[in-house]
Amino acid sequence: MDNKKVGIIGVGNVGSTLAYTLAHKGICSKIVLKDIRENIVQAMALDISQSANAAKSHTIVTPAKSGVDLKGCDIIVITAGLPRKPGMSRDDLLLTNAKIVSSVIEDIKIYAPKSKLIIVSNPLDAMVYTAIKSSGFSRNQVIGMAGILDSARMSHFILEKVGYGAGQIESSVMGGHGDDMVPLPNYSTVAGVALPEILSKNDINDIVEKTKNGGLQIVKLLETGSAYYAPAHATSLMVEAILDNKRKIYPCAVMLDGEYGYENIVGGVPVMLGSNGIEKIIELNLNNEQKELFEKSINSVKELANTLEEKFFN
Ligand code: LMR
Repeated sequence: MDNKKVGIIGVGNVGSTLAYTLAHKGICSKIVLKDIRENIVQAMALDISQSANAAKSHTIVTPAKSGVDLKGCDIIVITAGLPRKPGMSRDDLLLTNAKIVSSVIEDIKIYAPKSKLIIVSNPLDAMVYTAIKSSGFSRNQVIGMAGILDSARMSHFILEKVGYGAGQIESSVMGGHGDDMVPLPNYSTVAGVALPEILSKNDINDIVEKTKNGGLQIVKLLETGSAYYAPAHATSLMVEAILDNKRKIYPCAVMLDGEYGYENIVGGVPVMLGSNGIEKIIELNLNNEQKELFEKSINSVKELANTLEEKFFN
């Protein structure tokens, strides 16, 4: 897409893989990378830009020397922050990453106040809350990458279980991107057929548990750092949907304003993405059990938001 510019703040594994993915898909003409590690960010920009050239993509990747270089960004993806270590929950990163996310927002407010923000830092829902509060941006502009990743994981575990339908599996996961996320088997399909029609309760429960633990499983195996290929690809789909006004529906973490009966709190719900960022929030008909699980998940995010209000924004 000509003349489209994407900024990526935080060029660790997720940020650099995202830049590589976007550059190779040719989704935008410019990508600017920003990180406190100046040599690393320069090296990444050169290497990824050269690889895009090798692939005959038109995307140019440059390092940001300062916040000014974020000027003109249509989308800025924030991956800055620490990853959790084995033995930690995402929530343990709350105050550390809130500080980092709100500090990078300062430059965005000055140089790219019209950009759409995609938040990837953890704990995800609380960082979307932090970004909205720190920026004062409209809720349409600030979107968290979570459910799209959890759904991709669920599709993987479904494929593993059924053994067919690769590329024809759609999964839906709502709620926060934490231990209380809410995978929705009845909204998950293989070639259009809902899971409860093809799998036993036990098999479905197994898929649900594996999906909830998908991030943790990789954190434990890596020992340092967390997953990056799936998070980067999931984020690239969101970038593409917004830049190209695709109006695709993906589960994302957004500030709720009455939807599903909640206000002023972030939750993962199906969202239509287009050039305005959030174009529409889709309200699914949840059964009573799913409503309870969603409430539990929202309550966990509320606790984090309360801690932020007490210890960070105060
Ligand atoms: C993930 O789900 O991969 C990320 O949220 C990273 C993590 O800490 O699990």
